[in-house]
This record gives sequence, structure tokens and C-alpha cells, in this order.
Amino acid sequence: MLNRRASHPKFKADEIIEVLSLQKGAVVADIGSGGGYFTIRFAKTVGLNGRVFAVDTNARLLAYVKNYAKKNQITNVETVLIDKNGLNLPKEGCDLIFLRNVFHHLNQPEHYFKTLKCFLKPGGRVVVIDYKKRKTLNVIALIGHYAEEAFIQETMKNAGYVLVERYDFLPEQTFNVFRAM
Ligand SMILES: C[S@@+](CC[C@H](N)C(=O)[O-])C[C@H]1O[C@@H](n2cnc3c(N)ncnc32)[C@H](O)[C@@H]1O
Repeated sequence: MLNRRASHPKFKADEIIEVLSLQKGAVVADIGSGGGYFTIRFAKTVGLNGRVFAVDTNARLLAYVKNYAKKNQITNVETVLIDKNGLNLPKEGCDLIFLRNVFHHLNQPEHYFKTLKCFLKPGGRVVVIDYKKRKTLNVIALIGHYAEEAFIQETMKNAGYVLVERYDFLPEQTFNVFRAM
């Protein structure tokens, strides 16, 4: 279901991948990877010399991503279950950390992103895409599944990041790219 939504044309996955300009061999962490739609897209983009970590708190979803990768002979994906021991990624290992529709799930986002910084390579980027709060009442607004863009930017600034790109081609979501200061 998550993958069907992520791949719907209105969410413009192709455009997202394109503007990120990932290089072959890059290392990406897809945090809150869900059904892994972007994990697999990234894996194909970075090629065999690259690596993609699918990170989630949901073991069942990670098992789905792992099986999908295995069945399709995609060998550069690793799944990482987040548990009480925290996030386990290679230190200073990631060129890109990607969170799509995940920011609003985080209980202490400022602390979370401060902690995340040690997993970024120097110059590495953090991408935060999340639902906008829309003026008309809809399901996203009713269940609180959105994050105000100003709050995302303020949180990231307080966590020690600088905004380097902002795209507004997504009709329902905001799209901000940060680097560590
Ligand atoms: C709305 S889904 C988005 C899935 C995927 N990023 C996409 O765009 O299709 C949110 C995902 O974040 C995961 N999640 C929630 N809290 C998390 C956390 N603290 N760390 C990592 N993943 C989390 C959920 O299990 C779920 O898979």
C-alpha cells in the first residue's frame, strides 16, 4: 500500500530522484523506508558500488524490502531495524539521508537529527519530504500526518543544519535539503 502511494504520479518520484542527482557508488540511508519504494529506486540509481540502507522501526516492512531485493537480485540493499539500542549505520558513511513522510512521526526531531549527524559524510545531505498542512480538511490533517515546513526548517537549524535546497514541485508535500553546519 505504501509503495502504491509512493509510486503514484502525483507524488512525482521520478522528479525527486532526478533533482537529488545521486552519483554511482553513493551511500544512501532511507529512514522510515516503509515498503521500500525509494530504497529500491535509490539502489538502482547508485549501482553495484553504492549501498542503500533501508531503516525502519517496523520489522515486517523491512522483511518485505529484504525479500523484494533478494527476489529481484538487488544486492546493494541492507535493512536496519531501529530498536531501543538506536540507529546503527556506518559512522560518517552516508552521502544522503532521506526521510519521506517520516518527520511527523518523530517524537523529538531536534534530538533525532543531532544524533543523525554523525552518520553523514562531510558534505552529505539530509532530505526531508513531508506532507503540508492543507487548508481544506482531509485525512492527512485529521490524523496529524503532516509537518509545517517552518517547523521542519527551525528544527533542522536548531539541530545544526543549514538549508541548501528547497523544491516546490510536489503538490501535497514540502521538500527541503539540508547539510550539517
Ligand atoms: C508514512 S510511512 C513512509 C514510508 C516511506 N518513506 C515512503 O515514502 O513510502 C512512515 C514510515 O516510517 C516508519 N517510522 C516511524 N517512526 C520511525 C522512526 N522513529 N525511525 C524510523 N522509521 C520510522 C514507519 O514504520 C513507516 O514505515
